[in-house]
Parts: sequence; structure tokens; C-alpha cells
Amino acid sequence: MQNFVFYLPTRIIFGAGTIDKVGTEAKALGRRAIIITGKRSASAFGIINRVTDYLEREGVAAVVFDKIEPNPRCRTIDAAGELARQNKCDLVIGLGGGSAMDAAKGVAVAALEARPLWDFVHHGGMPAKPITRALPIMEIPTLAATGSEADAGGVISNWETHEKAVLGSPLLFPKVSIIDPELTLTVPADYTADGGIDIICHVIEGFFAGADNTPIQDRFAIGVIKTVMENLPISLREPRNIDARANLSWASAVALSGMIGSGRDQAFPIHALEHSLSGHYDISHGRGLALLMPAIMEYSYKSRPAKYAMLAEELFDIHRDGRSDEELALAGIEAMKRFLASVGRLLTLKEIGITDNSRFEAMADDALRIYGVKGEYLGNPKPLYKQDILTIFGNLAE
Ligand code: NZQ
Ligand code: ZN
Repeated sequence: MQNFVFYLPTRIIFGAGTIDKVGTEAKALGRRAIIITGKRSASAFGIINRVTDYLEREGVAAVVFDKIEPNPRCRTIDAAGELARQNKCDLVIGLGGGSAMDAAKGVAVAALEARPLWDFVHHGGMPAKPITRALPIMEIPTLAATGSEADAGGVISNWETHEKAVLGSPLLFPKVSIIDPELTLTVPADYTADGGIDIICHVIEGFFAGADNTPIQDRFAIGVIKTVMENLPISLREPRNIDARANLSWASAVALSGMIGSGRDQAFPIHALEHSLSGHYDISHGRGLALLMPAIMEYSYKSRPAKYAMLAEELFDIHRDGRSDEELALAGIEAMKRFLASVGRLLTLKEIGITDNSRFEAMADDALRIYGVKGEYLGNPKPLYKQDILTIFGNLAE
């Protein structure tokens, strides 16, 4: 295991009905809130009205910015920052999926800075400006997926350059996150499945890329993946099953909280390539991950067969029966593909609407520049150089 600092200063309030705490929690953080949310769902399902009512009862004024798109764009966030400035807001509330929550983190910075938010994003061009101040942030997830409710980062897209990259600082940890799984009951099947795959990828990436001798992290990761594999199919069959939704919500928060990733390498090759995909094609994050996960597993397992074999045995209860690590690893990958197929997420590029290969080269360059080690390769059991990335995209296009 590697040395690490574990720091999670977010107060987490969890449970069905806990949205009623938003007023009292907000009052401790500010007097004038800006609510950052998506274009439709929070308003369509009456959540904005509930939140503003609770705030009003506690004397917290609220202005709503409801123009955040999936894969939130830096220019939209700059506009929200301007609104926060005009209204002298002293608290940012992110209400929605990862896009709204990440945008809220961006607004917390943009509201206090004159320069564009993109200058603070680590996109591999000019060094990012350090974040030295941010408004206090409260996050209210309405979708179990990204873990933005319990981490210090946001993923921001630049639609002019098609880059998608990370805004990060300890100042961006939410002060409070209210995780009320009732708010996720309306999430449609496609985004429910995408969110589940995102949670799995948040822990499986560290499982494969991480250091040896991390038994707590490995077992924690397998526990999270098993929880998603049990509760995602239930949520798809019975969207209003609050117990299943609650388990997905808690899995989402735990996955990227640092509890599982600490003490081992933080290589995220599936995410790095997915951010290129959604940066160029504006697809759902979890759908892009679902496409890439088995492809990268198949490309990589021979470089770390024992760890892949461990996944087969401990996650899928596959017995060794005299097989080698590599044989067991392949059996585990096949089991993962069967699971993905069972939730409608064993996909091809064509099935997610990408029918040309004209951007593969730019996507590989972006992933390496933004997320690569010295810009040369993506960390992975088998390091992914440009040619490897082009081969992976090429295989997916067949
Ligand atoms: O936009 P609205 O109208 O709100 O609708 C959204 C959107 O269409 C809808 N939705 C959300 N809650 C709902 C709901 N529909 C019905 N009922 C509800 N309760 O779902 C759609 C997808 O929402 P979005 O926020 O885009 O999805 P997700 O939570 O998957 O977030 C994706 C973004 O988060 C980033 C991704 O890259 C992507 O930009 N990530 C953030 C991370 C982080 N902060 O640590 C880590 C992740 O790996 C990820 O990269
Ligand atoms: Zn993710």
C-alpha cells in the first residue's frame, strides 16, 4: 500500500425525506443561495419548489439558474457565476445529477473571479490557475452516479475545443451533501443504468490499476460493485423501490470519496477515454464507460492476470477448477459482459450513435494531453500509448 492522506470534510445527511433539512443546513452556510440545476427534471418533478420553500422558511433567499446541460460547459457556468455575482450570493446549491453538481462547484469559483472558469481547469494546455477561493457549496444529488456529492472535483467541458477536464481543489468539497434517495425515484431506466456503470467504474479502475497489498480497498471495491449489481436490476424493474435506490445512492457517494481509492495509484484510463468520447460527441458519461470498460479489460488483463483472476473469483464466485490466472481472468471478463448485457449496457460505438472514426486521433491526443503521464501514455496495467488507444477505438467501431 502507498502512503496517503484521507480527507473528507463533507457533512453527509443521508436518507429518504432528508431534503426537508435543506433550509436549516443552508442557513448555517449563507443568506443568499444560487441553486444550480439542469433544464428539466428538478423543475418537472417539483424539487425546485420544495427546496425554495424550505429555504424561504429559514430566511435564506434563493435565485435559480436552470440552464445546466449534461456534460456542463464552461461558458454556461461563467453565465451562472455572473448571476451569482449580480445577486450577491454567498452559497451555491447544486441540485441534480453530476452535471448540475459539478457546475455548482464551477459557479462557486466563477462567482468570485473575473477570468473565465476554463482558466482554472486542468486541461493540459497552459497550467491551470490555482483555486484560492470559492463560495461554500451544498450538493443535492438527484441521480446516483458520479459521486460529486462526496469529492473535491468537477468535470467541465469546453464545447469550442471539445476538451473535457477536471476542476479540482480541496475548496470544492461540499460543506454539506443531502443525499435523499427519494429524489432519484424518477430517474429513467437509461440514466439509472448509466449511473450504475459509472459507480462500478469508479472502483474497478483503482482495483485494476492500483498497488498490490490493498485488501481493504479491494474488498471495499468488490462490495460496492456487488451492491450495484444487485440493486441496479431491481431499480430497473421497480423504479420506485426506495431500498434499491438508497443502496445505489450510498454506493455513488462512497465510490469516489477517497475511502476506496486511497493508498493506491489513481489511474483512470476508462474515464480518460470516456471524457474524450463525451467531450467530442456529447454522450452520456455512464454509457461511454459501459462501452469502454470491457474493451479495456480485454486489452489489459494479460498485464495483470492475478488481479483479474481475483475479480473473477471474488466478484463472480467463479471456481478455479485448475485454470490459470489468464483463463480465470477471461472468465471474469465474460461474466462482466453478461452483466452489462443484462442491464442493456453491452454496447458498440454505432449503438451510442457514433458512426464515423474521423475524431479518433483527436480524441487520443486529448486524452493523453489532459490525463496522460507526461502526455505520453495513460496509466493502466498495460500502459496505453496513442497507438493502443487508436486500436481500442478502432476495435469498438467494427
Ligand atoms: O438535465 P436535467 O433536466 O436535470 O435531467 C438530467 C439529465 O438529462 C436527468 N436527471 C437527473 N436527475 C433526474 C433526472 N431525470 C429524472 N429524474 C431525476 N431525479 O438525467 C440526465 C443526466 O444527468 P447528468 O447530471 O448529466 O448525469 P450524471 O449524474 O451521470 O453526470 C454526468 C457528469 O458528471 C461528470 C461526467 O463527466 C458528466 O459530465 N462526472 C463527475 C465526476 C465528479 N464530480 O467527481 C466524476 C465522474 O466520473 C464524472 O466524470
Ligand atoms: Zn465517472
